[in-house]
Amino acid sequence: MAERADLSGLAEVEISGPGFLNLTVADDVLVELLAGPDTPPPADPQRVVIDYSSPNVAKELHVGHLRSTVIGDALARLFEWAGHDVVRVNHLGDWGTQFGMLIEHMSDLGGLDGEFGLSDLTAFYRQARVKFDGDDDFRTRARLRVVALQSGDGPTRQMWRRLVEQSERSFVADYDRLGITLGLEDFAGESSYQDQLASVLDELTAQGLLVESEGALCAFPAGFTGRDGRPFPLIVRKSDGGFGYAATDLAALRHRARDLKGDRLLYVVGAPQSMHFQMVFAVGRDAGWLDGGVSAEHIGFGSILGADGKMFKSRSGETIKLGDLLDEADARASTPAVGIGAIKYADLSSDRRGDYVFDWDRMLATTGNTGPYLQYALARIRSVLRKATVEPGPVVLGEEAERRLALTLLGLEPAVAAAIEHCEPHRLAVHLHEVAAAFSTFYERCPIQSSPSRVALTARTGDSLRLGLDLLGLPVPEAM
Ligand code: ARG
Repeated sequence: MAERADLSGLAEVEISGPGFLNLTVADDVLVELLAGPDTPPPADPQRVVIDYSSPNVAKELHVGHLRSTVIGDALARLFEWAGHDVVRVNHLGDWGTQFGMLIEHMSDLGGLDGEFGLSDLTAFYRQARVKFDGDDDFRTRARLRVVALQSGDGPTRQMWRRLVEQSERSFVADYDRLGITLGLEDFAGESSYQDQLASVLDELTAQGLLVESEGALCAFPAGFTGRDGRPFPLIVRKSDGGFGYAATDLAALRHRARDLKGDRLLYVVGAPQSMHFQMVFAVGRDAGWLDGGVSAEHIGFGSILGADGKMFKSRSGETIKLGDLLDEADARASTPAVGIGAIKYADLSSDRRGDYVFDWDRMLATTGNTGPYLQYALARIRSVLRKATVEPGPVVLGEEAERRLALTLLGLEPAVAAAIEHCEPHRLAVHLHEVAAAFSTFYERCPIQSSPSRVALTARTGDSLRLGLDLLGLPVPEAM
């Protein structure tokens, strides 16, 4: 085998124990590969529709939305860099019966001219909820409001719009703070599919895919059974004639495949909704909406846990608002870039399918597999380059640490390819950490300042790290 591997000019081959060959890549090959900037893996450009963040109106973003937002955004950046055409979709929860109580509460407070405390939408939601639960008269009015909203009553619609817009603005403010590339133009809320629901129902009915069950119209895609072993329904129209979350997702699926012409439809939503998406996709496949090789993928993820191993909550047991979490990050870190970077990297560096423990001390540490460690490596590179006494020159690989760094740098392209194929940003995170570690060894062993080759290698490492941080959506602090 060793004799037959003709890698002359590329690498030296050496037998290293039974079944193993050691390949030593020729220095000039390494150097040549490193000469240009990092390039994305070759790709057949596809249209990739990514549903992520997707919070609900009148509820502030909380830690549960953090993962979807951070993972989805990294994927959007990665796919775009690889040459794909990315459509970001923020599937805002802006429709449903809870709007009856929200609008009625708003109306009680003086309608559009009143002062609603919408700056604190969570408190507003809670007040409406308390009235709904404790006041029969209010509950009746809230129900009538739902009807008014659905039938397009003018003043009701206006109040609803105001609620939605206020929420959208508050989400975008959080996104800006977090460095998330979602804007107002990316919102396509549940309400935007309302006028497609009747036609979805017609189409599924015409294909014989719906069955009446206890007054509701349901699809029973093959292979889904409940605890009792009986076929499990996807409720398309409820017994009261209303449409719910599943119907909206069916319309959204059809829209993304047929109208947006997506090739890959990604749904970055927590693992508990896995069954919902598998069923929606199955019905969409049965209806022929995914014909022609469209792939619909639930990009699920685990939970964020507290130090006690239970769901991450505040001390008093409440869900933690994202805004409060970011405030704490600012307070704990030297700059917002470090705090935000730490939070995002802690999420992106772990396999999304698993849970992880939210631990400030660990994620803010400047050693280990953390955001600050990468940011610190980049800051050090910049400072070394500022102090260099020579211009960068041709790279010559003498020391083992130089070779190791050069080889590690070449891993970016395959790491990005794997991150894209599996929708796993941690594949890139792992690579970036290896680069930072290889640089740190190189920095300790090889004096850089007056060597044109090492200055060039350092600059190349800086470019690569900077790119990688950008692709994950991590900010680069000016100074650390
Ligand atoms: N608004 C939903 C929630 O907070 C998530 C929506 C996810 N996207 C979708 N197409 N269903 O749970």
